Amino acid sequence: MAIERVIDTSLHEEDNEERVVEFSLRPTNFEEYIGQRRLKTNLKLAIEAAKKRGDVLDHVLLYGPPGLGKTTMAGVIAHEMGANFRATSAPSIEKAGDLASILTNLTDGDILFIDEIHRLRRAVEEILYSAMEDYKLDIVIGKGPAARSVKLDLPRFTLIGATTQTGNLAAPLRDRFGHSYRLEYYADSDIQQIIERSARLLDTQIKPDAAELLAKRSRLTPRIANRLLKRVRDYADINGDGIIDVPITNGALKMLEIDELGLDPADRNMLMLMYEKYGNKPVGLNTIAALTGDEASTIEDYLEPFLIQLGMIQRTPRGRVITDIAKKHLGLI
Ligand code: ADE
Repeated sequence: MAIERVIDTSLHEEDNEERVVEFSLRPTNFEEYIGQRRLKTNLKLAIEAAKKRGDVLDHVLLYGPPGLGKTTMAGVIAHEMGANFRATSAPSIEKAGDLASILTNLTDGDILFIDEIHRLRRAVEEILYSAMEDYKLDIVIGKGPAARSVKLDLPRFTLIGATTQTGNLAAPLRDRFGHSYRLEYYADSDIQQIIERSARLLDTQIKPDAAELLAKRSRLTPRIANRLLKRVRDYADINGDGIIDVPITNGALKMLEIDELGLDPADRNMLMLMYEKYGNKPVGLNTIAALTGDEASTIEDYLEPFLIQLGMIQRTPRGRVITDIAKKHLGLI
């Protein structure tokens, strides 16, 4: 376990080289960061105020579906604060001692980013409470009669937590964040700008109408837009002269089986299975997972948020229901 620069796990498995490319496409400051205007306005003000007071920024919680730029925004905040960016993810913090060592190695003003913060173990999470609240590390050393409690001063730091599921965050932890922001899905026009920016960084020429078409298929999500751009670039290199225009984009999207709404075979397969096995009846998350062969968390975090956004799936207390919008899209009604 170590502090590392976190590189997001992508929607589909990608090799290391692709992850490095994804990283290099990330904006480093507010100026370059497209979209999320409300979030940027609020954060800019808070950062300016903290800097003016010579203080650290209050702890920040960023939540929302994957791929919308939580890690990227955390890096931008660190850059704008002129602070070190230390990134880790909750599943890699196994014991309270692991977190204690991360915290004691921070220096004043550092930004500590914890991805998937809803997955912190309870014993680890409890260490965070006093660390966040009064920069103290409250830790028990040893076991049984020899156990003793020690309290250490910590540097003043800012925790940035990212999660796809605020519902699963314990209230005492949630309440200790001074800022809590939801990242929203992007407008198609913002995704188009992101695609055009990434194409420039990748030294690839893309026609504006091709960027517009690609944006519409990107599920309102920058990570998916960048991934598609790279696939279309490959296709253009092999089937054309490397320039991405509308026919090349259409050819690549057809090959990838991505439809007009940006749904891929995995999305359509899930909807189809729900319809075939359950029709109009609600079905539980674990049952859907068993049907598709995915983990329940994969369905909940990756597959269903955009389908809910499109109104194709509804969440009810008794489970998920496929809607007429989905049935029409699949040509079932
Ligand atoms: N690349 C990925 N997300 C981005 C964003 N929000 N703005 C600019 N480039 C990005």
